[in-house]
Amino acid sequence: MADRVLLFCIFFSFCFASVLSRTLPVGSENTAFLDVSASVQKTLFLFSSDFGSTKMPNQREETSSSSSVSSLSFELHSRSALHRAQHKDYKSLTLARLDRDSARVKSLQARLDLAIRGVTKLDLKPVDTEFETENFEGPVISGTSQGSGEYFSRVGIGHPPTEAYMVLDTGSDVNWVQCAPCADCYQQTDPIFEPAASSSYAQLTCDTRQCKSLDVSECRNDTCLYQVSYGDGSYTVGDFVTETITFGNSNSANKIAIGCGHNNEGLFVGAAGLLGLGGGMLSFPSQINASSFSYCLVDRDSDSASTLEFNSATPPNAVTAPLVRNHKVDTFYYLQLTGISVGGQPLSIPPTFQLDDNGEGGVIIDSGTAVTRLQTETYNSLRDAFVRGTKHLPSTSGAALFDTCYNLSSMKKVEVPTVSFHFSNGKTWSLPAKNYLIPVDSAGTFCLAFAPSSSSLSIIGNVQQQGTRVSYDLADSLVGFSPNEC
Ligand SMILES: *[C@@H]1O[C@H](CO)[C@@H](O)[C@H](O)[C@H]1NC(C)=O
Ligand SMILES: *[C@@H]1O[C@H](CO)[C@@H](O)[C@H](O)[C@H]1NC(C)=O
Ligand SMILES: *[C@@H]1O[C@H](CO)[C@@H](O)[C@H](O)[C@H]1NC(C)=O
Repeated sequence: MADRVLLFCIFFSFCFASVLSRTLPVGSENTAFLDVSASVQKTLFLFSSDFGSTKMPNQREETSSSSSVSSLSFELHSRSALHRAQHKDYKSLTLARLDRDSARVKSLQARLDLAIRGVTKLDLKPVDTEFETENFEGPVISGTSQGSGEYFSRVGIGHPPTEAYMVLDTGSDVNWVQCAPCADCYQQTDPIFEPAASSSYAQLTCDTRQCKSLDVSECRNDTCLYQVSYGDGSYTVGDFVTETITFGNSNSANKIAIGCGHNNEGLFVGAAGLLGLGGGMLSFPSQINASSFSYCLVDRDSDSASTLEFNSATPPNAVTAPLVRNHKVDTFYYLQLTGISVGGQPLSIPPTFQLDDNGEGGVIIDSGTAVTRLQTETYNSLRDAFVRGTKHLPSTSGAALFDTCYNLSSMKKVEVPTVSFHFSNGKTWSLPAKNYLIPVDSAGTFCLAFAPSSSSLSIIGNVQQQGTRVSYDLADSLVGFSPNEC
């Protein structure tokens, strides 16, 4: 009988996978399917004239009546929705994204290295009233590398509110917006914020807790100036002030410390500024005393929107992971990752995968880094295991930072080993295949979307988080992953 099934299947190649899986000593949870056709279609749609016509979902706004803390919900958009780049095709778009991504990873590592060496507070170099650019070649000190913020939210700033797109960033704390008068502002989609038109705008004086919490600040005429510089030479400089931030039509948070940037340089792709979601006291969630926040990153090539929420409960189906902090720098969110498996087989993980007392090692989760970075050793064993499980797929040459790529142009659907993360509380987060085998062009080239890092810091990036609601439960120190909750 088995022979007859086999014979039948020889004529119907689609049976092959089922015969194979019955003959292999592995369960189905050890492999995942990638819909190649659907992924390629999306890369083509991004450059079609229909792109951008998808209706944005209505803004959700909920106020929980059972507690005094209201939950807030913002719309969230991928970079593509705001800015379909000047790229001629998907391949050049991908290469540009990967370039930005490398700059961001470098700046996160630089920030951490400075903190470990004990350099946290720096004075602004003397500035003149024109905010001269030359004076701000600034040291590498902070957070995000600008052009790499892949996701945006729309918020209102001031009273009455001026609507603006803000880059979301879990890798930095300081919120800021480009402000008139501009000594130097890059191009943005919305009009530049005009402080003179806002009745809630207020300068912070130098003795305030907020001013003292800045990494780089200066006092001029008892008003607080801030500066945030990035690893790639971009920066924002201006007045540190408090403002009202509004979500939707009604919910607002008053007296939020934000930078009013008069001199801004960088590749923010049309956004008016940045919403810092890090763990430090100047971040937006810290300032509103949020017990939690969550986001769902819609497909990076999608023009649909999802939500950024504050104070909503973690969905009950979430896989949770213990959240830990680095006492050397409070911005980053570290996960207690204890293992990774590929096709059900655990990889050997070096001890440096855990955050140590010196503030080194460990694994952070970040909204602004695209591709997950693993220590070189760990990356190599992940890649080798993946390659062993994909011998049935035609390989092709690497692309940018990817060294493991496949030519799937003649395939509709492929079966690949499942990649799973294991946490110290015994929970396992298994990634969907499209979160680690991604298209790099529209011709069917797909690459394993992990990369090695020479640093001891590993980073779980947004490619791996796509289509998943990621909930940061700050009160209980847990991060939750809920598939299909966008
Ligand atoms: C500082 O304040 C003094 C008095 O209030 C004012 O005359 C001066 O123009 C201010 N300087 C700057 C740089 O704003
Ligand atoms: C947050 O908590 C701090 C201290 O616990 C308090 O001073 C501040 O007013 C609170 N802010 C909000 C927006 O509730
Ligand atoms: C991918 O494979 C197809 C045939 O299946 C071939 O025509 C094409 O040239 C290959 N592409 C690359 C980049 O090797």
